[in-house]
Amino acid sequence: MAPFIFLSLLFLFLHYPLLSLSTNPEGNALHALRSRLFDPNNVLQSWDPTLVNPCTWFHVTCDSNNHVIRLDLGNSNVSGTLGPELGQLQHLQFLELYRNDLTGKIPEELGNLKSLISMDLYDNKLEGKIPKSFGKLKSLKFLRLNSNKLTGSIPRELTHLTDLKILDVSNNDLCGTIPVEGNFESFPMESFENNRFSGPELKGLVPYDFGC
Ligand SMILES: *[C@@H]1O[C@H](CO)[C@@H](O)[C@H](O)[C@H]1NC(C)=O
Repeated sequence: MAPFIFLSLLFLFLHYPLLSLSTNPEGNALHALRSRLFDPNNVLQSWDPTLVNPCTWFHVTCDSNNHVIRLDLGNSNVSGTLGPELGQLQHLQFLELYRNDLTGKIPEELGNLKSLISMDLYDNKLEGKIPKSFGKLKSLKFLRLNSNKLTGSIPRELTHLTDLKILDVSNNDLCGTIPVEGNFESFPMESFENNRFSGPELKGLVPYDFGC
C-alpha cells in the first residue's frame, strides 16, 4: 500500500502544473490566443501556461480575485487571428488589441464579455461583419473598430448600448445606412467616414442594409 500512495503522490506532484492549467479557464483562453498569434517581438514570452493563473503574465491585469480584467496588446506587432476562446474571459473590462496585424473575422463570442467597458481593435486587417452579439455588451463605453476591412452594415443591436460614449467605425468597407436611434445621434460623422454608407437611416423609407 505504501508504495502505491507514494507513487500516487509523486504522480500528483509531477502533474500539478497541468492540473492547475486545466482548472484556470482564463489562462487557457489566453494561451489559446497565444497559440494563434505570430509574435516576432516576443511580447507573449512570459505567458507560461504552467502557472496557477495568468495574473503575472505581461500585458495581462487581474483584479483582487485573480480574474483577468485587462488585456493590453496594442502596438505589439502581433499577427494572426482571434478565436472564440476570448469569449471565456468573463471578467474582462478592457480588450486592447489596436495597431497590430490581426486578420480574419471578429469572433461573435466577444459578445459574451458582459463586463467589457472598452474594445479597441482599430488599425488591424480584420474582415467580415461587426457581430450582432455586440448588442449584449451592456457595459461597453468605448468601441473602436476603425481602420480595418470590415464589411456589411452596422448591426441595429448596437443602438441598444445605452452606455456607449465613443464609437469609431471609420476607414472600413461598411455599407447600408447609419443608425439614428439610441446614442447614435451623438456620434460625430467622423466616426463613420471612409466607408460605403448610403447616408443616415430614414426609418420606414430606406432599409438599414440599403446599398449593401
Ligand atoms: C514586426 O515584425 C516584423 C516581422 O513580422 C519585423 O520585420 C518588424 O521589424 C517588426 N516591427 C517592429 C516595429 O518591431
